Amino acid sequence: MIDKIKEHIARVEQFTASEMGEIEAFRIEYLGKKGVLNDFFAAFKSVPNTEKKEFGQVVNQLKDAAQDKVNALKEALEKKTVNKNIYGDLTRPAEPVALGSRHPISIVKNQIIDIFSRIGFNVSEGPEIEDDWHNFTALNLPEYHPARDMQDTFFIQTDPDILLRTHTSSVQVRYMEEHKPPIRTISPGRVYRNEAISARSHCFFHQVEGLYIDKGVSFADLKQTLQYFTTEMFGKSRIRLRPSYFPFTEPSAEVDVYWGLETETDYKMTKGTGWLEIMGCGMVDPNVLQNCGIDPKEYSGFAFGMGIDRIALLLHQIPDIRMLSENDVRFLGQFKSVL
Ligand code: PHE
Repeated sequence: MIDKIKEHIARVEQFTASEMGEIEAFRIEYLGKKGVLNDFFAAFKSVPNTEKKEFGQVVNQLKDAAQDKVNALKEALEKKTVNKNIYGDLTRPAEPVALGSRHPISIVKNQIIDIFSRIGFNVSEGPEIEDDWHNFTALNLPEYHPARDMQDTFFIQTDPDILLRTHTSSVQVRYMEEHKPPIRTISPGRVYRNEAISARSHCFFHQVEGLYIDKGVSFADLKQTLQYFTTEMFGKSRIRLRPSYFPFTEPSAEVDVYWGLETETDYKMTKGTGWLEIMGCGMVDPNVLQNCGIDPKEYSGFAFGMGIDRIALLLHQIPDIRMLSENDVRFLGQFKSVL
């Protein structure tokens, strides 16, 4: 009988199982009420006294081995199951990934960049914290020039020389200082003006300014370029240039595009005139070229500047400029673009 028990011990030690059902069947076979062990315990009575001691020891050995085996197999199986859970149910359908959408400002900015890059303009950028020279003085706006009041300025701390740029014309100054003509560049970016915040205006907004400098650039070139732009951007080719004033251009003009008066929205957008004002422009003042190290006797050029936010409001019928900086995903999620 003792040999039989020892055989069982060997079998128990070799046993393996990878499923809970198999382990449970094994446990019942050995440790259950009607299991192998209980049979041996029941047989204890009929074992001759001389063998009782050894018999008892071997049966207990078998009991421990069976119990240890069951515990070890269960533990291993649990570990495996936990690992499986890291990956979850691999057959489950995937979670839908929410796609982001582009900000309306970026959409309009990218459209403008795309249109001008097709006629040879590159993109230039500069710092938002500027010095007086690049934002004002080089642009023909010396200290105490009354036109400085046209753009209410945020100054950095108490240093009147350091400010938040009021237009991206400052980037054009930097570009002219670093590059020789021919120059064809557009400068998109955020600008700041100390204005009361309302549905129509904000203390920061975005611009794209353009600059073209070469030999013999004329006002006709400017007009042609602007017409190309409005045709590509809005599908409207009828424009008019109204005389205006900017310190850095001479002559200067305000550009209107004929939007038309076909729908009620057209009436609202154009205040019943059919015309929309979209940007400022002019021939670069010779003083500005001189300030930036370009000989005005040899070169001439034109510049223009437009606000991206206003165009975005117009194109997407957005009623309040503040919506552009509130980051409400219900608003932002409505914009889709390939650019
Ligand atoms: N810098 C002007 C502004 O911010 C726009 C402009 C640019 C006008 C270039 C003329 C030429 O209002």
